[in-house]
Amino acid sequence: MRNIKIGIIGSGGMARHHAERFSSIETAEVVAIASRNEQTGNQLATEHAATFISDWKQLIKRDDIDGVIICTHNNSHGEIAITALQTDKHAFVEYPLANDVNEGEEALHLAKTRHRVLRVSHPEVVSNTHAALKQKIGELSELLLTSFVRLTPGRGARPEILFNLPVSGTPAHFFIYHIYPIVDLFGEAAWVEGAACYEGLTDSGQYNRFVNTVTIEFKRGGIGQWSWAGGIAINASEQHERYVLTEGTLSNDGSGWQCSTLTEVTELTIPKTPQPTLQELWLLEIQNATQHAPCLVDAEVALSAIRISLASAQSIRENRRIEL
Ligand SMILES: NC(=O)c1ccc[n+]([C@@H]2O[C@H](COP(=O)([O-])OP(=O)(O)OC[C@H]3O[C@@H](n4cnc5c(N)ncnc54)[C@H](OP(=O)(O)O)[C@@H]3O)[C@@H](O)[C@H]2O)c1
Repeated sequence: MRNIKIGIIGSGGMARHHAERFSSIETAEVVAIASRNEQTGNQLATEHAATFISDWKQLIKRDDIDGVIICTHNNSHGEIAITALQTDKHAFVEYPLANDVNEGEEALHLAKTRHRVLRVSHPEVVSNTHAALKQKIGELSELLLTSFVRLTPGRGARPEILFNLPVSGTPAHFFIYHIYPIVDLFGEAAWVEGAACYEGLTDSGQYNRFVNTVTIEFKRGGIGQWSWAGGIAINASEQHERYVLTEGTLSNDGSGWQCSTLTEVTELTIPKTPQPTLQELWLLEIQNATQHAPCLVDAEVALSAIRISLASAQSIRENRRIEL
């Protein structure tokens, strides 16, 4: 079978990660890297014997590229994905799918109508832990509450980019990988409320530390709550996750998942089934796309997840509950 030829956009940490992953897969070939950063872009291209292009639009136009890996900052994912899909390229987008719901919807529409594979890099799709949680949740009946708390002293490798509202969006948006799995388990939100405090917020939207909370009600019933704090005075990161269902509660305080009922506490068994990587899955879907319309379930979940993060940003701006 012919190799799938890939262009990578961006030349930072995730671009490097994907370049290495794709280069190690026999059916893929990294042919070009585009980035506004000539130094890191040229370096990454040289390491993978690929061509460096400074303008990502020129990379997308190339006839010798089948698919595009989008590893730029959050504020350009939607535009680049739409342009790639309009040019009949397959797209693999770093999360979040887009900074704007209309852009996310447009990307999904293009993937559907042009039979292109659109995948957002949410790893739950290939996670044994997520599959085990899904199965156990199915046994524990109805959701009452899911809560997620993450407190971290960290500010990311590039705080000027991450703690930057116009570039990265609110913390709920750049922490979308905490929202995606819960939407995958319980479906869409009926309404969303958000709140946030930013310390040292400048006119350009940069800040030093934050707290951000999101509360939703799922359409199927049950409440979801997320709380994040970043750049705070805490010695080490803390994370707590809970799924409270009518027949039992699943919880993880950092030492693994436990299921407690009125009578017992058991550890959740996670199988060690080998899974393909997200990159392998995307390549396989591209190969199959010639016979079958691609399955876009995960892109739909990614879109539902950004509906929540973006509605929570709207809720903060307008100081009201947002009905979806
Ligand atoms: N899947 C995961 O586990 C994971 C983990 C971390 C991050 N992410 C996501 O991956 C994305 C990239 O993160 P990263 O850590 O790789 O960031 P990064 O190290 O800052 O790299 C971003 C790269 O894209 C370039 N770039 C940004 N905007 C651009 C634009 N509009 N046009 C052309 N090039 C552009 C940057 O150039 P400059 O150097 O000039 O800024 C840089 O080369 C983010 O959206 C982030 O949310 C995913």
